[in-house]
Amino acid sequence: MSYLEKLRDLAEREKKAEAGGGPERLEKQHAAGKLTARERIALLLDPGSFAELDKFVVHRCSDFEMEKQRILGDGVVTGTGTIGGRTVCVFSQDFTVFGGSLSGAHASKICKIMDLALKIGAPVIGLNDSGGARIQEGVESLGGYAEIFWRNVQASGVVPQISVILGPCAGGAVYSPAITDFIFMVENTSYMFVTGPDVIKTVTHEDVTKEALGGAETHAERSGVSHFVAPNEQACLQAVRKLVGFLPANNLDEAPVRGARVGADADPIDRPCLAIAKILPDSSSKPYDMRRLIEDVVDAGEFMEVHEGYARNLVVGFARLGGQTVGIVGNQPAHLAGCLDIAASLKGGRFVRFCDSFNIPLVTFVDVPGFLPGTEQEYGGIIKHGAKLLYAYAEATVPKLAVITRKAYGGAYDVMSSKHIRADFNFAYPTAEIAVMGPEGAINILYRKELAAAEKAGRLAEERARLVEVYRNTFANPYKAAELGYVDEVIVPEETRRMLINALKTLARKRERGPSRKHGNIPL
Ligand code: HXC
Repeated sequence: MSYLEKLRDLAEREKKAEAGGGPERLEKQHAAGKLTARERIALLLDPGSFAELDKFVVHRCSDFEMEKQRILGDGVVTGTGTIGGRTVCVFSQDFTVFGGSLSGAHASKICKIMDLALKIGAPVIGLNDSGGARIQEGVESLGGYAEIFWRNVQASGVVPQISVILGPCAGGAVYSPAITDFIFMVENTSYMFVTGPDVIKTVTHEDVTKEALGGAETHAERSGVSHFVAPNEQACLQAVRKLVGFLPANNLDEAPVRGARVGADADPIDRPCLAIAKILPDSSSKPYDMRRLIEDVVDAGEFMEVHEGYARNLVVGFARLGGQTVGIVGNQPAHLAGCLDIAASLKGGRFVRFCDSFNIPLVTFVDVPGFLPGTEQEYGGIIKHGAKLLYAYAEATVPKLAVITRKAYGGAYDVMSSKHIRADFNFAYPTAEIAVMGPEGAINILYRKELAAAEKAGRLAEERARLVEVYRNTFANPYKAAELGYVDEVIVPEETRRMLINALKTLARKRERGPSRKHGNIPL
């Protein structure tokens, strides 16, 4: 072959690889409301930045006459590219090739890109759309999965790992996304389950659809498996880009600091938070939306909430303060009065650990009446699950700031980034109430006899009100805690933004190390 013929030959091979499973299957993919592996990569990455690897890899199987069906790339497109100019490693499963099923060769391609990500310290983004283990390959495919799982664990806490579920993800295949840091799903086209509806029907006689069992809504709201839901693939991939913009590339990197903005976009560091006074209700028993308070404080009101539909009594997510990425955790009085329960503890614990792994300072807004009471919670193990959140906060060595907006009661006070578990700066509003328990519960215990006597005398209501007032004046304020140095400063809510940004600057060079050990034993 001449030089030109060789070039032509290469171009033809590339074209073949890019055709995936052929035009019919491609059409079927589009008809199902899904994009192809390459279309997805094009939407995810900066235009023209994708550099593909292993385009000509084929499977090695010759059972079931598989040697007659070798498709270049073997059902997964892998490579590097950039998002906002920063390098990421990507794999994108191609459902048009053997249903995106995972062969030994397919797994090796994914492993190669994961190894590269660890070597260069870049996030890994997996676009999942697969029928699972390639049935024709048997145990070689299972081995391939396990190789991926092992790498997921090695990469955990070293580079951010993001899983985007854009089709089926079933059986043991779910465990790779489950180990990664964030899972995105798309309404109506993506689903995840360990055993599908047919197996469930046989074993437990339950009738359940794919969507109800493992669709986006189920995992966003009930199981908490997924962190983000989008109405379509385009919006989903945009959201992945946005998330990556908040994150550092690896655990040795600082999170990207967005430069000073100018013009209409600028958000001055000392901007007073004028909305907070209107958001905080006069009565301490009235709910308010903590998200609105957070939005009033952070840069340009931009708050990317994680796990929005799950454990809504705790709000977690990413924002920027003075350009710097921060992880925000806030009790949400608008849901379950902001109590901590099992789901909130799991959600908060995992988020805090992610931020700590990747040098993202934590800012906690506290308004918590305590742990949610009830047999459901106790039997479900609120003791061990609540301990996860406590453990995560205590273990975290990133800068930790807290703002007590209103209630900080009981064990939940200790858990929510208290000074005692080594938060760096703890602020409280004058509206804060910091005590062992709320006034109503406390006076029942402290003044049992007095209340019984008042009841007999027919003046229970007045006596209750009087005792509540006495208790409030003593404890339902931030000053007892401030006297002890448990609160560093009682601040005017308007000043929240300026105070937090100053504290972050002060802590910019914070260095803290725990004792040397293999790893702690978080109560799983
Ligand atoms: C080989 C597969 C495949 C698989 C799909 N295909 N799954 N080939 N191994 N696992 C092929 C089909 O033969 C078909 O080929 C093409 O992909 C598209 O599949 P369809 O069935 O036509 O598509 P659809 O109707 O959309 O159904 C998608 C599906 C279904 C729900 C995913 O294909 C399915 O149930 N597949 C099997 C899923 C499964 O049980 N996998 C094993 C799970 S256990 P043609 O040539 O017709 O286009 C597992 C264990 C992992 O994965 C363990 C890790 C430890």
